[in-house]
Amino acid sequence: MDTDRRRLLRWLGKGSVFAAFVAQIGAAARAFFPNVLYEPPTTFKLKQPAFYPQGYTFDAEHRLFVIRAEARFHVISAVCTHLGCTVQWRGTEFDCPCHGSRFDANGNVISGPAPRPLPWFEISIAPDGLLEVDSASAVPEGSSLTVATEKT
Ligand code: FES
Repeated sequence: MDTDRRRLLRWLGKGSVFAAFVAQIGAAARAFFPNVLYEPPTTFKLKQPAFYPQGYTFDAEHRLFVIRAEARFHVISAVCTHLGCTVQWRGTEFDCPCHGSRFDANGNVISGPAPRPLPWFEISIAPDGLLEVDSASAVPEGSSLTVATEKT
């Protein structure tokens, strides 16, 4: 009877040491997976300039508009500066469906609650001939890229 109790206590003691060991290993292994938020790259490629028709083309994947006027291109963010909804092009202005902000054709705020204009992004031609956008680099309104070899 007494030996059964001792065996039980011995098992409990060994079990708790083993459980503490496993918990410690788990905590150490967790250190190999840091709390990092993986975000998409800010520089990405679009299509070739010839793909884009004259006017405003929405790129849903990158949430932006590629605007083409003859051989000049510029890119305006489609992310509303209020709370981040995707704005829609209505032919003469951008409208935000969430809270009603309106932006003119250059992304300037016509009516709120959006506090800032839609940013223009830096655009260039990559070595492979595709348009390349850096969404981390805002450029002044009116900046554009002219693609000299482009025929329409
Ligand atoms: Fe566009 Fe609120 S998110 S107006």
